[in-house]
Amino acid sequence: MKTTLLIAAMAAAGAAQAETAGATLYARHCAVCHGIDGAGSGPMAGVLVIKPADLTALASSNGGIFPTARVVARIDGQEALVSHGSPMPVYGPFFEGPKMRIILEDGEQLRASAPVALLVEHLKQLQD
Ligand code: HEC
Repeated sequence: MKTTLLIAAMAAAGAAQAETAGATLYARHCAVCHGIDGAGSGPMAGVLVIKPADLTALASSNGGIFPTARVVARIDGQEALVSHGSPMPVYGPFFEGPKMRIILEDGEQLRASAPVALLVEHLKQLQD
């Protein structure tokens, strides 16, 4: 009984830590454009030619399902769009590191570096 409680407490602490780490990464690298709340009105938004995406609407604009694979591709720069002149910086080389597995909604899996996985978790928390 005690052990079960301890494990549950540790899992909760781990999740809380991961959320803090994701939020910190987001505040440091993304909020300047997307805003701390993700709605797209960070301090730099006004000077960009293309308005930063509203990251709180990723799920609602995708039929209620968070588009994990697309978001990972956007952040780590695999997606072609980024190399076609979007102001969205390419973070792939920056967020290098040991790969983590992310389980998608349909049970498929993909791999991303730990910072990218943490950011994706944080973005899920920001959904409307
Ligand atoms: C220099 C400003 C800037 C910064 C910094 C920035 N973005 Fe963006 N981002 C944009 C702009 C502008 C768009 C919309 C145009 C586009 O899609 O390329 C965008 C689009 C996106 C999209 C695509 C949304 C979709 O519907 O597919 C995601 C996801 C995203 N950003 C996440 C992030 C994350 C996470 C970070 C931090 C690691 C970040 N952005 C940092 C400017 C920025």
